[in-house]
Amino acid sequence: MEHTRIDTSVPHPARRYSYWLGGKDHFAADRASGDAIAAAFPAVVELARANRAFLGRAVRHVAEAGVRQFLDIGTGLPAPDNTHEVAQQVAAESRVVYVDNDPIVMMHAQALLVGDPRGRTAYLEADVREPRLILEHQALRDTLDFSRPVALLLVTTLHFVHDDEQVAQIVRELIAPLAPGSFVVLSHGTMDFSNAEGIAAYERMFAARGTDVRARSRATIAGWLEGLELVEPGIVPVADWRPADPAARRPVSPDLGIVGVVARKP
Ligand SMILES: C[S@@+](CC[C@H](N)C(=O)[O-])C[C@H]1O[C@@H](n2cnc3c(N)ncnc32)[C@H](O)[C@@H]1O
Repeated sequence: MEHTRIDTSVPHPARRYSYWLGGKDHFAADRASGDAIAAAFPAVVELARANRAFLGRAVRHVAEAGVRQFLDIGTGLPAPDNTHEVAQQVAAESRVVYVDNDPIVMMHAQALLVGDPRGRTAYLEADVREPRLILEHQALRDTLDFSRPVALLLVTTLHFVHDDEQVAQIVRELIAPLAPGSFVVLSHGTMDFSNAEGIAAYERMFAARGTDVRARSRATIAGWLEGLELVEPGIVPVADWRPADPAARRPVSPDLGIVGVVARKP
């Protein structure tokens, strides 16, 4: 049974993120871990929400550019403005394949599979560290046509993979089969905006509780996307990526940041 694989005493990123977003699918361990991180880095809740809003704006941008197929790896628990909802608002026939490795996300996936009947959504439980299994999966092949453009979404997913070379390889393998005109939508934790004190506090906290995310620089992220065209304004804090209301106050994160980028494969 699915639920025998779920250990609710261990915090999980998807449930902790749901907690920060104001969702309902989380347990005591997720809340304790979420509160501990938020106590050290109060910006994290605001950042989680800014990241989710970036996802929505980026999906809309790509859909308005004509893309009708989405591969969303690191889906998270259902929350307002899931990828298929945003994409199908622009074009009802949009197709989305969701991928996550958290069995709890799998249990809630039904909510992601109820889309516009003119489009299609599928869910597969898989690990981003095994890109070939994802790309060769029958559910993906049945849903997406790789001879046409696809938007690959890696929105706050890759910072859960600790090995730098492995991440670079994952991104290469996922981008390689994409047709010209495809997009990559990516966001990732960074320390680029942190001062030395913030970096030290971040490292102490994660060292104490067993690190589960790895921050990376904008230069590293740019390296993954070599050969692609970065959509304006490039790799920027998620709240600054084409904000819906540029005049509104946007979160400033002195200690921790998430950057977002949309890139097009020529
Ligand atoms: C912070 S949530 C992001 C959710 C969504 N993309 C968003 O930005 O709103 C990160 C998601 O990545 C998933 N994840 C973490 N490591 C993963 C891996 N190795 N393979 C697939 N998914 C992973 C987690 O289970 C979680 O659902």
